[in-house]
Amino acid sequence: MKKKKIVVITGAGISAESGLKTFRDSDGLWEGYNIEDVATPRAWKKDPELVLQFYNLRRKNVLDAKPNAAHTGLAALEKDFDVHIITQNIDDLHERAGSTKVLHLHGQILKMRSEKNERLVYDITGNINIGDRAEDGAQLRPHIVWFEEPVPMIEEAIAIAGDAEYFVVVGTSLVVYPAAGLLHYAPYGIPKFIIDKKIPYTSAVQDITVIEKPATEGVRMLAELLKGSK
Ligand code: APR
Repeated sequence: MKKKKIVVITGAGISAESGLKTFRDSDGLWEGYNIEDVATPRAWKKDPELVLQFYNLRRKNVLDAKPNAAHTGLAALEKDFDVHIITQNIDDLHERAGSTKVLHLHGQILKMRSEKNERLVYDITGNINIGDRAEDGAQLRPHIVWFEEPVPMIEEAIAIAGDAEYFVVVGTSLVVYPAAGLLHYAPYGIPKFIIDKKIPYTSAVQDITVIEKPATEGVRMLAELLKGSK
């Protein structure tokens, strides 16, 4: 029998219990940095060293972190459902937890690319330094979608969302577009769930089952609710 399709949108909140800081839980500062100073093309132009230093540290934090019960709980749903994860996170915790269909909307910290050609992408676990070059001779930069840059994976994400049979949102403040808009592409009338320790405002909230809990507990409750609907 064909498994039913669950689409899950995740944000920084799902990795919080793995020790990775969210973006907006501390006054718009991210690990003490202003987002505009480290995550925009302007920042890269102005002070590439600072940007590299910032992401080198993020990479180390990610490698030191482990998937938590929310990541593994979503991976376990694959036994009974066709689970598609669309994440705004740049960490690889969904993959390490065992999820097999993960789309990264905002890039991946364990990849780097040529600053001139976004198709020249390489795996990386160490640091990127000034002077490290891609095959085309251009400086390497993190494979991250910065603010003010286009989001190349959004079309694919919209297509995935469009034929969901269940829709789940976990740990995102739903303020960054186009990711936040994906909720509006979910088919009308399908069961929808939102899990967050502090539920954000969304205009689609009327027909959503709200689970106001930390992600680990929330995903466990979701799995219970889905039992019997496979
Ligand atoms: N469990 C569940 N939710 C949590 C937890 C937790 N343990 N801790 C925090 N949250 C929730 C917060 O209540 C908030 O709604 O996670 C959300 C985190 O929101 P943001 O920090 O804004 O992260 P996110 O939505 O992923 O940000 C989107 O912004 O800076 C950019 O590109 C970056 O992908 C990122 C995008």
